[in-house]
Amino acid sequence: MLRHWANTLSTMTIFNSRTVPLIDQRGATLPNPDASLAPKAHLTTQGLLLDTHARPLRDLRISVTDRCNFRCNYCMPKQVFDNNYSYLPHADLLSFEEITRIAKVFVAHGVQKIRLTGGEPLLRKNIERLIEQLSTLRTPTGYPVDLTLTTNGSLLGRKARDLKAAGLRRVTVSLDGLNDEVFRSMNDVDFPVAQVLAGIAAAQTAGLGQSSGEAGSTGLKINMVVKRGTNDHEILPMARHFKGSGVVLRFIEYMDVGATNGWRMNEVLPSSEVIARIRAEMPLVPLQASKPGETAQRWGYANAQGEHDKRAGEIGVISSVTQAFCGDCNRARLSTEGKLYLCLFASQGYDLRSLIRSNTTDTELISAIGHIWQGRVDRYSELRSAMGPDTGTGARRIEMSYIGG
Ligand code: GTP
Ligand code: 5AD
Ligand code: SF4
Ligand code: SF4
Repeated sequence: MLRHWANTLSTMTIFNSRTVPLIDQRGATLPNPDASLAPKAHLTTQGLLLDTHARPLRDLRISVTDRCNFRCNYCMPKQVFDNNYSYLPHADLLSFEEITRIAKVFVAHGVQKIRLTGGEPLLRKNIERLIEQLSTLRTPTGYPVDLTLTTNGSLLGRKARDLKAAGLRRVTVSLDGLNDEVFRSMNDVDFPVAQVLAGIAAAQTAGLGQSSGEAGSTGLKINMVVKRGTNDHEILPMARHFKGSGVVLRFIEYMDVGATNGWRMNEVLPSSEVIARIRAEMPLVPLQASKPGETAQRWGYANAQGEHDKRAGEIGVISSVTQAFCGDCNRARLSTEGKLYLCLFASQGYDLRSLIRSNTTDTELISAIGHIWQGRVDRYSELRSAMGPDTGTGARRIEMSYIGG
């Protein structure tokens, strides 16, 4: 226990020679509600659970490892995540059976989509066995769960077929540029872009772009984090490359997530500018959201008549910095060691692992998770927007590599 908190309050130097304190937030835990409490009147397990802003619970993101083989500087800067960094010891991780038990309760409470994340989820040994277990879950109305995974693509060429066979429906691949030099420098481990492109092709061949009935999401997706001055010149080459490929490319505003990436507002390229640049070359039309609470705003490539050309496909922009989307945020996050976070920018989580390792019954677990969601107040991005750029809400935040994207 003590070992992995060893670097609490150490100091590190980061880009542009700023020094920021590294305060390890992983140990910060909120008290769990009394699991034997009687449910509040509207607490049911029929998917009707609402938080304090009337937001339902629909999306569970499960981090299966805090390790990654890349060192993207906006997520796991080398200066922090080096050989001295203390990752979670294996005994602290939730087992696949524990993850499935918790996921089942979330699905009973209304979750329709489960996303496996990391770190890099394909580094977790035997991840296919977890996928097999999760793929058997059914929503209260009898649909399979929209089971997906976010990966950096480095192992996808090798694993795509087995993942599909295990029951994974689709994948989202992170890719920050097509230019090999730019890509190698952004992943900071000199990983070649060709291998990720081969992984994407393998995922397409394996059929990892399946749509899902109830959750309304579809297709293989590519996520590109845009940093002004680092890879914004890759926006147009990426758009040209994936237009008409059947893959949905999404541009993500660089976020102030975690406490180690040295985030600055002047490195954020607003999504409005991404759209303007693409539109100047390839006409676009706005599309309706495909489901409530969607992170991305969708844009379709237009034909000569100004209508959506479905064969050319669509792109998306995720604008959590310039246009916060907390209003209908339906996402909960489960960390590798079983802490439940109600916001990507949270500084504390609820320790579900201690609940399930202490003979808590399923009924008590359902009640505890229900109460936690009913008490949810989080809306970090909206509050930060209200406070203006280059501000935070003050609290120390957990890292994205720990909680997942
Ligand atoms: P799909 O169902 O495939 O469309 O998934 P998604 O829209 O949930 O998108 P995905 O999981 O690929 O998330 C894309 C990126 O959006 C993440 O890597 C984050 O950068 C950002 N993101 C996702 N969820 C949130 C959120 O709840 N808050 C904020 N601020 N950003 C988020
Ligand atoms: N800003 C925006 N997105 C981020 N991700 C990680 N760090 C950041 C950040 N600072 C997201 C990326 C990546 C996924 C694993 O996490 O979308 O694809
Ligand atoms: Fe790894 Fe993804 Fe983070 Fe990059 S963004 S360091 S690939 S977890
Ligand atoms: Fe949801 Fe928090 Fe992201 Fe807002 S900042 S959309 S509440 S995860």
